[in-house]
Amino acid sequence: MVEHGKASTDSIAEVNKNLTYGTWRIQGQWKPLIVTDAEGVYFTDSSGKKYLDFSSQLMCSNLGHKNRNVIDAIKRQADTLPFVSPAFGTEVRAKLAEKLREVLPQNLSKYFFATSGTEANEAAVKMIRMYYAKEGKTKIISRYNSYHGSTGASVGLTGDFRRIAIEATGSFPGIVHVPDPYCYRCPFGLEYPDCGVACADYFEYAIKSEGNVGGVIVEPVTGTNGVIVPPKEYMPMIREITRQHNVFLVADEVMSGWGRTGEWFAVDNWKVKPDILTTAKGITGAYVPLSLTATDRVLSEYFDDHYFAHGHTYEAHPLTLAAGVAAVSEYQERSLISRSKALGEHLGRRLRELITRHPSIGDVRGIGLFWAVELVKSRQRKEPFNTYQDKLEGKPLVVDKIAQAMMQKGVYVSTWVSHFVVAPPLIISESEIDNAVDVMDESLSIADKEVVA
Ligand SMILES: Cc1ncc(COP(=O)(O)O)c(C=O)c1O
Repeated sequence: MVEHGKASTDSIAEVNKNLTYGTWRIQGQWKPLIVTDAEGVYFTDSSGKKYLDFSSQLMCSNLGHKNRNVIDAIKRQADTLPFVSPAFGTEVRAKLAEKLREVLPQNLSKYFFATSGTEANEAAVKMIRMYYAKEGKTKIISRYNSYHGSTGASVGLTGDFRRIAIEATGSFPGIVHVPDPYCYRCPFGLEYPDCGVACADYFEYAIKSEGNVGGVIVEPVTGTNGVIVPPKEYMPMIREITRQHNVFLVADEVMSGWGRTGEWFAVDNWKVKPDILTTAKGITGAYVPLSLTATDRVLSEYFDDHYFAHGHTYEAHPLTLAAGVAAVSEYQERSLISRSKALGEHLGRRLRELITRHPSIGDVRGIGLFWAVELVKSRQRKEPFNTYQDKLEGKPLVVDKIAQAMMQKGVYVSTWVSHFVVAPPLIISESEIDNAVDVMDESLSIADKEVVA
């Protein structure tokens, strides 16, 4: 039993573990570290040890921790109007909508709010299917190396192994997966630029062959599945193909939005305007859960005289919207988007230097403050240390051993199968980047020892 105020760390950890579910893991293996405080780019555990947050928690705390302006905005809103049914209008709803107009691709002019990236993508799929219901164009194309959320349609869209775990109970209907622009492991076995960006062309082949595709969803820069930055031609090609075939293009910017790639949104890197943009995470800097499905005029005008069969009790929850207004202002006033671009150059340079010292590094890739360091047992064969099957079975992963060593040295970094996702808060300084990369440098010897020729 936890007694408030004097519960020992052990008993808090036990109650967390025994009475609540840990996400994406075998439950018995969960040993939660108890976190008690967080400020700036650091968080603190119950023993008082501080960690530099080199992944913005789940690539979401873009503003760092305890941002005063966001916290005060939530408090003010709580004093004024903490909740009202989404059927009513509010001042804060208008304020956030106007702010979003300032920063989103200009064609995206109508907004649906929810509380998670998962829900933002579910809304996008439903909107497309409602629009195309009569024509039966209800199929959606997504990619294999992708994550789009954890429920129904969104886990069905997800290409990675988290879909496979639930597909055993039956797939979500009407979703087709296609290959990724993963140049380090090209699914067509080709080299850029000789490949002619075949992975983008493949969308046309799939759309024509399926015959009833209503939407395509992509992470413009793939997140958890390896920070895959596509060749510069890729997103414009997909935009052109989807336009020609009257297929909605959805940019899932749940992770890649809000300055992560050095632009407001990853699509801005290629001046691509999607028909729908979904986002969450950085929209409030993760202070409260808010997500957004932003649509262009074709969809919004359709619903002007058709029933919009979608909603949540907490749609446009005032506390979340107030945090959104304050967060967007922080990105603007502190020039955090250009800061991400400038610091990203430094972070990329420092991470690439590691390749020369560590035979266990297969690839380093990224953009802005969004990078992956992919580890391999053999550089020649590009053989990863671990597979998704190892992760599903709860086997100890080499990346996790390195991450643990880094934690002991006070740096937290997010891992996935055989790579790290480096995505610090946009307020990080150059010297903090240097410290964290130095700690990674020291810890990579764990993997180097396991390299085979
Ligand atoms: C690209 C992408 N889409 C969707 C999601 C799902 O968002 P949420 O976890 O808020 O439901 C995530 C979460 O990491 C994501 O990275």
